[in-house]
Amino acid sequence: MNLSPLFFPTLALYCLCFKLTSAACHVDDEAGLLAFKSGITHDPSGMLSSWKSGTECCTWAGVTCLVDNRVTAISLSGQSEKPNSFLSGTISPSLVKVQNLDGIYFQNLRNITGKFPDLIFGLPKLKFIYVENNKLSGQIPSNIGKLTQLEALSLVGNQFSGSIPTSISELTGLTQLKLGKNFLTDTIPVGISKLKSLTFLSLQYNQLSGSIPDFFSSFTNLRILELSHNKFSGKIPTSISLLAPKLAYLELGHNALSGQIPDFLGSFTALDTLDLSGNKFTGTVPKSFGNLTKIFSLDLSYNSLVDPFPTMNVKGIESLDLSYNQFHLKQIPNWVTSSPIIFSLKLAKCGIKMNLNDWKPKETYFYDYIDLSENEISGSPIWLLNQTSDLVGFWASGNKLKFDLGNLRIVNTLKHLDLSRNLIYGKIPNTVSGLESLNLSYNHLCGKIPATKFPASAFVGNDCLCGSPLAPCKA
Ligand SMILES: *[C@@H]1O[C@H](CO)[C@@H](O)[C@H](O)[C@H]1NC(C)=O
Ligand SMILES: *[C@@H]1O[C@H](CO)[C@@H](O)[C@H](O)[C@H]1NC(C)=O
Ligand SMILES: *[C@@H]1O[C@H](CO)[C@@H](O)[C@H](O)[C@H]1NC(C)=O
Ligand SMILES: *[C@@H]1O[C@H](CO)[C@@H](O)[C@H](O)[C@H]1NC(C)=O
Repeated sequence: MNLSPLFFPTLALYCLCFKLTSAACHVDDEAGLLAFKSGITHDPSGMLSSWKSGTECCTWAGVTCLVDNRVTAISLSGQSEKPNSFLSGTISPSLVKVQNLDGIYFQNLRNITGKFPDLIFGLPKLKFIYVENNKLSGQIPSNIGKLTQLEALSLVGNQFSGSIPTSISELTGLTQLKLGKNFLTDTIPVGISKLKSLTFLSLQYNQLSGSIPDFFSSFTNLRILELSHNKFSGKIPTSISLLAPKLAYLELGHNALSGQIPDFLGSFTALDTLDLSGNKFTGTVPKSFGNLTKIFSLDLSYNSLVDPFPTMNVKGIESLDLSYNQFHLKQIPNWVTSSPIIFSLKLAKCGIKMNLNDWKPKETYFYDYIDLSENEISGSPIWLLNQTSDLVGFWASGNKLKFDLGNLRIVNTLKHLDLSRNLIYGKIPNTVSGLESLNLSYNHLCGKIPATKFPASAFVGNDCLCGSPLAPCKA
């Protein structure tokens, strides 16, 4: 076949034109996005610097265009580790011009203020709202139930107040409802039980009160339930037992829940994180916990739980906190000692009466935090601290540790060291000056205190320490 020499340039031109028109930004989308930009008063990291009138809006940072070249999503996200990475201002109501939006993702912008963006009610295709870690305030609108097309609603980390509107029960397409870290009050509307597709329900860090509704029989898909840091009282509702096959996260910590920890929690075969800390639970930890073979984070601290603690059959616990109950564990349990992946162990006031020299954990490499305060532990942590390489905090106040502090290896990563109220002797090594917090009070230390920023209360009650911040050494 002979092609006309003219054919190729024509084709090339045709393709180029097609590409340009196909990528062109819809005039309404451009207007809506630029209106949003004009509502931003401060953008120190230049997050919106590519948003310029007359340029191709589908290429602007954070803008996604899909079908028919219409803008379908805006994703702007501040980086928490960069102090400059924020936006100040409000969300312009004219953003409603971007009619084909199906997702708004404004995450960690930190300084966006104003009320719930009502323009959302004018966006019929919007399915995903993630407006997280900003400073939106006021009430969540009572007609929120009109947004029936929503699949995810996250307002985590704002300043919303008032109660959760009852009409939220009409958002039956929601798979994720996250309202944590706001100032929400009142009880959980029982209508939430109509949200049968929920996989993720998070209401933590609010001021919600009353009992946790016994409405979980409808949540057969729930994987994550976060209700911690509220004011819930009463018992763990029995219908939670129906979540056993799938629930992976159960966080109920820091409420005022009471009663016994129910047996049925032991049958949660998919559970990897359980936090019941800071409540008023009494009685024993059910034997059925031995069946929680997948659990890797267990926090039962600050309750009134009593012995005996069940033997766990977990292969690798990562994080365990049993502190401040009424346990008398005597030893650090074997299932802890044998964990190959543990990074945080907190067993303060657990009635442990062992010699630390006898504790040889299978793996020390991952340890970040060890808290053995307020036990009757003797011996020395010298071997242990010499084994760890990433330790950040070691707390062992109120024990019977007896060793020469000068021999303790203080790894570079260590930030917090509390050895107060033990039987420690020797001199304070210079290496403590790199710590962020230190307490060596009430031991048998002697000699000149190296230059540090720590107050006198970190050094008082020793045999013969001297120098700032205590009295000067005698010449
Ligand atoms: C937030 O905005 C206020 C007022 O616009 C400003 O004073 C403040 O520096 C901003 N800071 C951050 C971190 O967002
Ligand atoms: C652990 O589970 C098995 C069967 O799955 C059951 O027979 C046993 O009673 C459970 N153990 C406890 C302590 O609940
Ligand atoms: C600390 O460990 C090193 C090897 O990693 C070893 O040479 C040294 O003797 C140990 N020190 C103490 C006090 O155990
Ligand atoms: C050190 O511990 C003692 C006794 O446990 C306490 O009274 C004091 O406030 C603590 N000081 C610091 C700086 O943590």
